[in-house]
Amino acid sequence: MVATKKHIVETQGVEFSYGACGGPVPGAKALDGISLRIEKGEFVALVGGNGSGKTTFARLLNALLLPTSGTVYIDGIDTKDKERLWEVRRVAGMVFQNPDSQIIGTTVEEDVAFGPENLGLEPEETRRRVREALRRVGMERHADSPPHLLSGGRKQLVSIAGIIAMEPGCLILDEATALLDPTAREEIMELLRRLNREEGITVLHITHDMEEAALADRVIVMHAGRVALDGKPSEVFSRASLLREMGLDIPQVAELSERLRGEGFDLPSGLLDTDAAVAALERMLAGSRHAVHTT
Ligand SMILES: Nc1ncnc2c1ncn2[C@@H]1O[C@H](COP(=O)(O)OP(=O)(O)O)[C@@H](O)[C@H]1O
Ligand SMILES: [Mg+2]
Repeated sequence: MVATKKHIVETQGVEFSYGACGGPVPGAKALDGISLRIEKGEFVALVGGNGSGKTTFARLLNALLLPTSGTVYIDGIDTKDKERLWEVRRVAGMVFQNPDSQIIGTTVEEDVAFGPENLGLEPEETRRRVREALRRVGMERHADSPPHLLSGGRKQLVSIAGIIAMEPGCLILDEATALLDPTAREEIMELLRRLNREEGITVLHITHDMEEAALADRVIVMHAGRVALDGKPSEVFSRASLLREMGLDIPQVAELSERLRGEGFDLPSGLLDTDAAVAALERMLAGSRHAVHTT
């Protein structure tokens, strides 16, 4: 099957083993047949327990690893195509968990310039892209700061600026919010949503935080190297017992409404955001008041 360019990410029957020397079971498959497509402009959350294969999958998208079998296409390019390796890495930009491991420059500006410089752009074009990228993440005031003195959240903003300065098609974040405090997490989520909505950048956000996952357009759940669930957040989080079996939480609002439904309360399934849950509870309570009055 030929990949279509409409899909920024397409994987066909992807398997990956770390080989005889690594892993808890030598030669066990870290990924065991992943076939999925992500369309340009989607905002996807990827969740799953520890060791379910999320990081391995992310590394395959960026050609840091190549599949043991099957094929990964990034914007229609086979990641095995050695001649287009740098194109794959530019299109599928990665942000990692630990912001300190991603800092290269002695100033924020220098750090953000590293990627575009490596693309072989003219210095003037590099400068323009760096300024623009820093503006987009709200860090232009810190252009001359030494990045290692910034907070974890700001370091991640600088990492994201470094990626968007390369004009990627897809931003892949591997637990990039995991080490941050709640305010910084929220800031990163807001930025991701803005880059997605306003600039059409595809986002693949790998996270442990189900509240963050609930903000995506689509949630993919991995388990034991396979895709266990894939759908809208309301669909995925309505499968509470399956998620619990896989050792995963569900968002608090979903948890509350699911328990109330279990007790026989008349609430719609798939409630995720607080406003919708409040409205549904109000309707339900108004209904029961009405029921009391008429009996
Ligand atoms: N560098 C490695 N060498 C050997 N095995 C690895 C390596 N990285 C991950 N694994 C194994 O691959 C499986 C998937 O891991 P990973 O992709 O890191 O999952 P996740 O990111 O979901 O926690 C796990 O069984 C893990 O132990
Ligand atoms: Mg991981």
